[in-house]
Amino acid sequence: MIKGRIFSGMQPSGKFHLGNYLGALENWVRLQNNYECFFSIVDLHALTSSFENTSKIPENIHNMALDWLSAGLDPEKNVIFIQSHVKEHAELHLLLSMMTPLSWLERVPTYKDKLQQLGVQGKDINTYGFLGYPVLMTADIILYKADTVPVGEDQIPHLELAREIVRRFNNMYKPVFPEPQAQLSQAPTLPGIDGRKMSKSYGNEIPYAASPDELRARVRQMVTDPQRIKKTDAGNPEVCTVHKFHKIFNASQLNQISESCRQASIGCVECKKCLAEQMVVNLADIHVRRSEFEANPGRVKEILIFGAERARKVAAATMEEVRQVMHL
Ligand code: AMP
Ligand code: TRP
Repeated sequence: MIKGRIFSGMQPSGKFHLGNYLGALENWVRLQNNYECFFSIVDLHALTSSFENTSKIPENIHNMALDWLSAGLDPEKNVIFIQSHVKEHAELHLLLSMMTPLSWLERVPTYKDKLQQLGVQGKDINTYGFLGYPVLMTADIILYKADTVPVGEDQIPHLELAREIVRRFNNMYKPVFPEPQAQLSQAPTLPGIDGRKMSKSYGNEIPYAASPDELRARVRQMVTDPQRIKKTDAGNPEVCTVHKFHKIFNASQLNQISESCRQASIGCVECKKCLAEQMVVNLADIHVRRSEFEANPGRVKEILIFGAERARKVAAATMEEVRQVMHL
């Protein structure tokens, strides 16, 4: 049974990692069976913070499409497309920008945070476009009249703003748009190999496209219980990053491995080997699908063109309605 309509998107940053997969994409793959889904590679959003050098965008988009398709997002069931291919996103963004008070945008907590964070890295994003990031995001969602938006917790303030903009539009003109609700992924935050949250900005990530040998190498570098110095020391799995990964990728052997660690009957090297092999097995389907699509870049292009055509039809119908109620 179809429960509603979903829109979600991701920026093609070029560094998709296992945390992104478990925290977001795996959830999308599940949702595709119960919702009508629009999934967009949001290249215009990527411009808000990296507008100077755009030469990597095509490659990053292609890689993101490979990531999504290899995870099992079905291009027949879902509308998968590139945001900038559907110009209505830009048009609705412009119209919404007319009615969005500056104070609402300045109040969004992610705005000042990111401005400061990137400022420290020497990047100046005191721009009109960056301030309007959540307005563009609102346009993305409501262009398809999506009611459900699967996202990470960090996006909650953007969804709140989207609802405020929708209420303002609906009151001022006519009730055209549903108020979109966030749907949080149940997956816990995945740590990186250093134990902090897996993130591209920490350099602690395991790339989603990592080959079996790369996977093994990254697992070998993982931090373990710092108190366990010699193999004969008893370990504490609760403070070990490898253990957190066993929970996700090796649930059937989890108890046995924890016990062996506590009794010092298994060493960290062996424990990591066991994990790496389980991860290789678990992620094997993804690798098979990825190499199939990699061998056929023309097919990936076709999927994105087909997706944009389907998206455009829905977007154009919404814009008709918007222009009408706004007397344009
Ligand atoms: P980002 O890479 O921060 O743009 O995140 C894209 C999506 O992946 C968001 O839905 C995040 O919540 C999710 N995500 C990013 N890092 C992790 C992580 N370490 N564990 C779980 N989910 C993550
Ligand atoms: N801002 C989102 C992120 O960084 C990406 C995004 C753009 C998005 N437009 C969207 C997510 C619309 C959900 C709906 O993760």
